[in-house]
Amino acid sequence: MTDRTATLSFSDGSPAVTFPVIAGTTGPDVVDIRTLYAKTGMFTYDPGFLSTGACASQITFIDGDKGELLYRGYPIEELAVHCDFLDVCYLLLYGELPNAAQQKEFDTRVTNHTMVNEQMQFFMRGFRRDAHPMAVLTGMVGALSAFYPDSMNLHDPMQRDISAIRLIGKLPTLVAMSYKYSMGQPYIYPRNELSYAANFMRMMFATPCADYEVNPVLVRAVDRIFILHADHEQNASTSTVRLCASSGTNPFAAIAAGVACLWGPSHGGANEAALNMLYDIQAQGGVAKIGEFIARVKDKNSNVKLMGFGHRVYKNYDPRARIMQKTTHEVLGELGIKDDPMLDVAMELEKIALTDEYFIEKKLYPNIDFYSGITLKALGFPTTMFTVLFAVARTVGWIAQWKEMIEDPHQKIGRPRQLYTGAPQRDYVAIAKR
Ligand code: SDX
Repeated sequence: MTDRTATLSFSDGSPAVTFPVIAGTTGPDVVDIRTLYAKTGMFTYDPGFLSTGACASQITFIDGDKGELLYRGYPIEELAVHCDFLDVCYLLLYGELPNAAQQKEFDTRVTNHTMVNEQMQFFMRGFRRDAHPMAVLTGMVGALSAFYPDSMNLHDPMQRDISAIRLIGKLPTLVAMSYKYSMGQPYIYPRNELSYAANFMRMMFATPCADYEVNPVLVRAVDRIFILHADHEQNASTSTVRLCASSGTNPFAAIAAGVACLWGPSHGGANEAALNMLYDIQAQGGVAKIGEFIARVKDKNSNVKLMGFGHRVYKNYDPRARIMQKTTHEVLGELGIKDDPMLDVAMELEKIALTDEYFIEKKLYPNIDFYSGITLKALGFPTTMFTVLFAVARTVGWIAQWKEMIEDPHQKIGRPRQLYTGAPQRDYVAIAKR
């Protein structure tokens, strides 16, 4: 709380009302308007939540003007270098980096929950082989609700914790199963001696016909990509999880709602859309055609966006995009890919956009999705799987935010109101008179 207040006055002489101003650790203060409706009979109006703080949180902080991202106070640049993904999971869930004993215990718990119930294979069989992996994942994560009646009581901290561990442990397995199913290949079971990212890569790309050789450089790249995507404050899918879970539904159902929201091309689906955009430019002539493409983006009637650019919060370079770009070069180098034409197009597109008045004026910079697609393609992931990889990583962010909300003693069901602009009350008209 601060000793500052904000007063709302009305030009029609209605009595002014005053609200407290609350300051956080850092970042914008908030005007606490929870009593606005009781005091004035009016709502605020903020479609898209451009100026609305939906909750108080201690998990992630973004400074959009400076292009800074902190998980529990630690800069993403430091975590991406010094930690592995499960360390970051522990940090997001419990608020501190693990010590050696905590790290070993947590990693073992997650590893011991990487298998899924064999019945899950029968859900998979219900899908067409060419089903979009996000359709499969939305269904499979929701279906997990049917398998763990022992961890559905939200008010039991032990059950909340086991749900978090199960979701973090099982998402990679479900994603790898969806890929194997699409390929007509047998499922590869997790191996407890492998790290989280190595286990995932093996479940994705191994076959029963040969031993799988873990490439530590590529595994490190996947692990770092998971770290970059782990959490991001109150983005659309996290807000979906919070609102869905505020009704008291189980965490598996709430995370399934987050998966569904992430699928959209304005959100997590942008990594798939960004690579398809680069494919299109490449197909039309590559770097030579970038000028034409940029012109279409600037043409309001074209409805063409520069996918992987722009962000509601970042009005500067997304710090994750810088790390992702570096990872792209590491992966291409390790794979001996000297000149990836898509990377050439992406880097030229970025160079042009960053010097073009249209993008400068609108503060449009590359976001995390601009380079991730090139990296994931080089790692062997099909384009349609990019967003499910985002979901694997973001599951820890969703579940950490869910846990924070459930443990908030003041938590209520989320129930926004509206500005009604529909028909005034009117009497029924018989069909003969319509
Ligand atoms: C993610 O919220 C998060 O934190 C999300 C995320 C996370 O980790 O959870 O960071 C992950 O979703 C990253 C964003 C991925 N999406 C894309 O790359 C898709 C392309 N980007 C745009 O759709 C857009 O930038 C959004 C959706 C990301 C942000 O949209 P806003 O904040 O609602 O901004 P806006 O659409 O109002 O854009 C402001 C102006 C508009 O022009 P005007 O109407 O004012 O003339 O900028 C234009 C937009 O048309 N604009 C773009 C553009 N993004 C915005 N023009 C061309 N290309 C773009 N990419």
